[in-house]
Amino acid sequence: MGLKAWVRQQLTYYRSGRQLLRGPHALQAAGASYRERAKLGSRTEIINLLLSTFDRPATYLEIGVRRPADNFTRIEAATKYGVDPGVEAVSNPVDFPLTSDAFFTALRGGGVLHAEQRFEVVFIDGLHLAEQVDRDIGNALAHLAADGFVVLHDCNPPTVFHSRENYDYRLTPVEGAWTGTTWKAYVKWRSRGDLYSCCVDTDYGIGILSRSVDLGRDRPRVPNPFYEYRVLEANRRDQLGLISPSEFATLLGNHFPAPNSEMG
Ligand SMILES: C[S@@+](CC[C@H](N)C(=O)[O-])C[C@H]1O[C@@H](n2cnc3c(N)ncnc32)[C@H](O)[C@@H]1O
Repeated sequence: MGLKAWVRQQLTYYRSGRQLLRGPHALQAAGASYRERAKLGSRTEIINLLLSTFDRPATYLEIGVRRPADNFTRIEAATKYGVDPGVEAVSNPVDFPLTSDAFFTALRGGGVLHAEQRFEVVFIDGLHLAEQVDRDIGNALAHLAADGFVVLHDCNPPTVFHSRENYDYRLTPVEGAWTGTTWKAYVKWRSRGDLYSCCVDTDYGIGILSRSVDLGRDRPRVPNPFYEYRVLEANRRDQLGLISPSEFATLLGNHFPAPNSEMG
């Protein structure tokens, strides 16, 4: 390559890089990411609040653990199980080093735990693609206690870039931050009308489904048959049943005797 062509190429790289890092999408995404991280309340607090509502020893299942210190070890339940095939971390100290599909197949067949096993809370935070999360929700409900909760991380992506399908592609305005398309599976299940649901507006959206505890039964009113992100973005409360952490604490307080919560 001649000198002129090389200089032209370097200038193109520079302009593209500048556009990526300083363009309107990047600035908007940086603001949205900052606002999300500043929200009070975490997935751990919400799960512990749900677990505190049971007046019996509760069993907790986490699908997708990665670094246990981030959440799993801080969960307060009499019995806890973790499932993770270990695709993101070298060390994978979980009870079941399996994909969620393999785990539930083994559970159904009595190959792990026992086929009648029921969980008070199942936290789904594994592979964040709608099709997989959809299966995880169905499998979790099949093994959920009648008054149990399915909890889903990452239901409220702050930008369309967080909600991309490709986890590996990191050259985005939000770099590698990823919620995937979990929200689509959550919206699908909450639209059926036979489950109570809400999504707590913190920590990228904590979706909760229950068969018997009234967390809200409003289905989305705005049609979104193709699960378009722009429809979600314009109608988050409607699509997700979005509520604040303090509204959530009040909601649970209405159903259970004063749960011990740091949220308020
Ligand atoms: C976002 S991390 C989990 C974070 C953790 N739950 C927390 O709260 O800190 C996602 C994890 O899901 C795991 N994972 C990927 N594919 C999976 C699958 N098919 N089934 C279960 N877990 C999966 C990855 O190995 C990774 O450790």
